[in-house]
Amino acid sequence: MKQETNRLKGLPSLAQAEELLQEAVNSNPGPWEDHSRTAAFCAETIGARCGMDPQACRVLGLLHDIGRGGGVYDFLHVWNGWSRMNALGFPAAARICLTHSFPIQELDCYAGNTEDCTPEQREILMRELKSISYNAYDRLIQLCDALSLPDGPTILEKRLVDVSLRHGFSRLTLDRWRAFQKLKQEFEQACGQPLYPLLGVSPDRL
Ligand SMILES: [Fe+2]
Repeated sequence: MKQETNRLKGLPSLAQAEELLQEAVNSNPGPWEDHSRTAAFCAETIGARCGMDPQACRVLGLLHDIGRGGGVYDFLHVWNGWSRMNALGFPAAARICLTHSFPIQELDCYAGNTEDCTPEQREILMRELKSISYNAYDRLIQLCDALSLPDGPTILEKRLVDVSLRHGFSRLTLDRWRAFQKLKQEFEQACGQPLYPLLGVSPDRL
């Protein structure tokens, strides 16, 4: 992971990220705010342990779902976040708005309804997604998204079941779950320790 741990370019500052999140939450309040804050905590904590830029990790965690500020959206939150961050000149944040939903780089990997985007929007996002070679930041936010409930970090399985109860299954759901398990193993190896105690997930929080 060493070559990927340099400070990221194309990211807002932490203060800007907080402002962007607040602005988005004001226009569409919901549990996604606390989910994003949990993801930011997880990303910063894990990133700091494995030699990544902890502040960049925090910023990316705060902003990965920023597209939800536009309204109660499904796949459209990916489009909104990606296009908004690009328009503001933050391509590293835009990239995470897209990649966080895809531990596997295929449309069917998305856990939800993709029909709230136009076919053109879906095509643009998929073309962009397939052009990206994932780095440690993409993988970290994918993992942290899957560890973060609004009330704090949790075990992977609890969050994955929570998502499936709300959105159902696709042909790639099981592959998606396996991909998250693999991500967890990879980051545990990079951190040199189990992630749950690091994040304060104890048996009484299960
Ligand atoms: Fe998320």
